[in-house]
Amino acid sequence: MASRKVFNQCLVLPILLMNCSVLLVQCGRPHSTEGEDLVTATCKHTLHFQVCNSSLRSVPISGKTSDLRVLAEIALNLSTAYAAETLTCVHELQSNSSAANNIYVSRCLRDCEEEFSEAIENLQHSKEALANGDCDKVDTLISAAMSDAETCEDGFKDLQQIEDYYSTSPLTERNCHFSELCSNALAITKLLV
Ligand SMILES: *[C@@H]1O[C@H](CO)[C@@H](O)[C@H](O)[C@H]1NC(C)=O
Ligand SMILES: *[C@@H]1O[C@H](CO)[C@@H](O)[C@H](O)[C@H]1NC(C)=O
Ligand SMILES: *[C@@H]1O[C@H](CO)[C@@H](O)[C@H](O)[C@H]1NC(C)=O
Repeated sequence: MASRKVFNQCLVLPILLMNCSVLLVQCGRPHSTEGEDLVTATCKHTLHFQVCNSSLRSVPISGKTSDLRVLAEIALNLSTAYAAETLTCVHELQSNSSAANNIYVSRCLRDCEEEFSEAIENLQHSKEALANGDCDKVDTLISAAMSDAETCEDGFKDLQQIEDYYSTSPLTERNCHFSELCSNALAITKLLV
């Protein structure tokens, strides 16, 4: 229950704010103030500054580029890599016999497997759209990837409503972090418009 609440907070808030972000984007491209590099200036336009700052900096070229488009691509790469890792995690959970033997849990995991495969595809297509300068399409595809993760999480939420069966999602933290990475990638691509 607690983890569910945290997830809802982490997911719903960014989605609400994202609808307003059209207004925020009017501030234009990030401009660095003295002593501030492009990563810091860019991450200030995202909803999850710490995640943005630390994830982008885990890729060394982030600190060397002066091209916002490169940061956007890195943000998408990070989201894609995390989705792929999560898919591996789903496969590991599926190989846990006590989880796999539960018909409800295994159904949820199969859904998550499908959702994350789709999320990876959506994000790969979003990189192509970014390369083609089609920012609207990038938006749509990242948003689709975010709802894929949400659908995965919702499966477990529905499961909790089944009488006599209480199980929390083993993927809440991952779904949450994935949603933050995507939200950041979305905010960065919006700066390119
Ligand atoms: C951003 O991350 C770097 C490296 O992880 C850290 O040294 C720096 O303090 C962070 N910036 C802010 C403003 O938190
Ligand atoms: C993003 O990932 C692709 C595929 O792994 C790689 O070729 C490309 O160099 C990455 N982009 C950046 C900016 O790191
Ligand atoms: C396997 O699944 C059961 C039930 O979902 C869980 O209690 C247990 O911690 C899992 N084991 C591993 C190694 O993940």
